[in-house]
Amino acid sequence: MFENPFNLSSDCTSIPKENRVIMKTEMAQKTNSSLCSVPLLFLLTLLLTLSFSLFLLFTPSSNPNHSSSSSLFNPNISPSSHQSIKVYIADLPRSLNYGLLDQYWAIQSDSRLGSDADREIRSTQMKKTLEFPPYPENPLIKQYSAEYWILGDLMTPPWQRDGSFAKRVFVAEEADVVFVPFFATMSAEMQLEVAKGAFRKKVGNEDYERQRSVMDFLKSTDAWKKSGGRDHVFVLTDPVAMWHVKAEIAPAVLLVVDFGGWFRLDAKSSNSSSPDMIQHTQVSVLKDVIVPYTHLLPRLHLSENKKRQTLLYFKGAKHRHRGGLIREKLWDLLTNEPDVIMEEGFPNATGKEQSIRGMRSSEFCLHPAGDTPTSCRLFDAIQSLCIPVVVSDNIELPFEGMVDYSEFSVFVAVSDALKPNWLVKHLRIIPEEQRNRLRQYMARVQPVFEYDNGHLGGIGPVPPDGAVNHIWRKVHQKLPMIKEAIARERRKPEGVSVPLRCHCT
Ligand SMILES: *[C@@H]1O[C@H](CO)[C@@H](O)[C@H](O)[C@H]1NC(C)=O
Ligand SMILES: *[C@@H]1O[C@H](CO)[C@@H](O)[C@H](O)[C@H]1NC(C)=O
Repeated sequence: MFENPFNLSSDCTSIPKENRVIMKTEMAQKTNSSLCSVPLLFLLTLLLTLSFSLFLLFTPSSNPNHSSSSSLFNPNISPSSHQSIKVYIADLPRSLNYGLLDQYWAIQSDSRLGSDADREIRSTQMKKTLEFPPYPENPLIKQYSAEYWILGDLMTPPWQRDGSFAKRVFVAEEADVVFVPFFATMSAEMQLEVAKGAFRKKVGNEDYERQRSVMDFLKSTDAWKKSGGRDHVFVLTDPVAMWHVKAEIAPAVLLVVDFGGWFRLDAKSSNSSSPDMIQHTQVSVLKDVIVPYTHLLPRLHLSENKKRQTLLYFKGAKHRHRGGLIREKLWDLLTNEPDVIMEEGFPNATGKEQSIRGMRSSEFCLHPAGDTPTSCRLFDAIQSLCIPVVVSDNIELPFEGMVDYSEFSVFVAVSDALKPNWLVKHLRIIPEEQRNRLRQYMARVQPVFEYDNGHLGGIGPVPPDGAVNHIWRKVHQKLPMIKEAIARERRKPEGVSVPLRCHCT
């Protein structure tokens, strides 16, 4: 069965060396071809001397503050790195992005779960239409706001974008990738608001019509025709985003919170004995980018951290489908432990206060699978400096290889977690010293999961080590593979079609 997203949710890159080699070779060729005249030799000597003195100036020994946060988990990126990715924004009408927010704020009454968070904003602040309206505060929508912050960064005037890893270009031919500025989550949410019943159908479904117009437009462009869409970037954070055109965007780079939506497709379409294996050929950690949920709780700084009274905390729905079945079992195993708090909550201000209190007063925060392998709870735990205990065998996490999750989280196999008394024993014996070390590392990665740049409408400079820049660094890592795939496609003789293959790993 197809559930709506409310049930679902209540719950740099490492090629600088090669680049440098290429640049050197090109330079060498240029110098050769332009004849080594005496002044040129003199100039080269001067340059060499200069760069050597610069090298002496900036060796680590002369720079004691070297271990800044950015170099810690991402040794290949330093603020001085001039790497970037060239991004062209596909020319979609405003009605497919910010226009959807205009529509959202114009709704007279919204009775859905979590909507009370927006009621006041709607009645007080939204009297006039803004060019860049705010994103909903409704936690069930806000958790998917990646689309808003990524576009906000790209729409920011160039002179405020020095810290952005994505460099905007205005000619598609100059771009490394094409960003598709479709607010797919908002589109789905708007349809669910006006007519939930039509959501799975094509007829009478405005979300489907929007998906269709995005695809019809893109497919008519030279950029898409040249690449088959492989160098196009879509934000699909909500598992039901772009539901009807998933097959058409399969070759593209998809920014997703996990592959939960595709597990569901598989579960329906295959009678395989191994339901955990992804059968589909549409998504993979090689082609796509796992992005963080937007955290909903405010950041607790390490200096504000107080002694924590409870061992383990969990707030959420007890009953979930599929992978979430373990929740119910865990709940029964843990609920009577004296230093464990398991509670159900509401997606409103009361629930938020409850979570802040729980996550700030507990050493560990449980992160079991829900309907999908991840949830925004993990990112709330990180902002609350509550050590995540991940019990979700299929989990995929953002910025892997840039952030080392085992430095601040505890990973437990579902089979172990379900043994009576195993989990609490396992956590109780983790010494305080180690807990402190995990928490210190976590404090350093908190900014990595931050989308919000603190500017109205998301328009303004982004934090250099924030989520938006990390997403673009991850996309940048995929460029050589994208170029290879496009070249392989192009050499195929007319009429030959090779079925999509899974890039499993
Ligand atoms: C599913 O089962 C049917 C009938 O038993 C079989 O013909 C078909 O090949 C199976 N499909 C898959 C994907 O295993
Ligand atoms: C949140 O929802 C619960 C359950 O409906 C209700 O008891 C509580 O008063 C609500 N809190 C706020 C601040 O509206």
